Amino acid sequence: MSALTLGCHFAARPEQRDIGFVCQNGHRLPFSGKSFTHVISRVSLNYMHQRTAVAEMVRVLKPGGYFGCRFEALGHDLLLFRQATSLRRRLALLRDLALGLIHDGTGWQRPCGSRLTGGRAFATARRLGNMLQSLGCQVINVQMVQRRGRVAGFACQMVILARKVRDTANDSRETTG
Ligand SMILES: C[S@@+](CC[C@H](N)C(=O)[O-])C[C@H]1O[C@@H](n2cnc3c(N)ncnc32)[C@H](O)[C@@H]1O
Repeated sequence: MSALTLGCHFAARPEQRDIGFVCQNGHRLPFSGKSFTHVISRVSLNYMHQRTAVAEMVRVLKPGGYFGCRFEALGHDLLLFRQATSLRRRLALLRDLALGLIHDGTGWQRPCGSRLTGGRAFATARRLGNMLQSLGCQVINVQMVQRRGRVAGFACQMVILARKVRDTANDSRETTG
């Protein structure tokens, strides 16, 4: 059973009136601005255009609401590279690593839907924190996911928690389903 089917199954119970599940593109959420008190992103940001996805998640967050994001960090890329057995896989991982480094250093990332899509980019708390601040959020806490460990001193996964403290022009950009 897929995670979505399982979620819909549990949400259909009479006592779960406030829960619903939808499968949508994180680059364009079908919700009005300021709809939710909490937004959680769990290891999906790395597979999207990070600035676009974060702006969408903050847009649908009510002022005072909380944003929690767990993401793959540099250590995860190093781990995958260490575990890779074929040259082809290593080349693909090097491409992803390079894209992550470029994104961290310059803020540039391939546009959504680009033909080169297929890889992913590691995220950093520094860049993510800057993004969140520019979107009216205050970073409350950043920590590594201890259970995932480190590779060459770099955390594999991190969690960032932020609170939306002010509105920005981004909030008024409505999206239709
Ligand atoms: C590493 S999996 C994490 C799955 C799950 N959130 C978890 O924590 O186990 C990455 C997820 O990102 C999702 N994803 C990739 N691109 C996406 C997009 N544009 N919009 C929404 N989800 C996306 C994939 O469908 C996949 O389920």
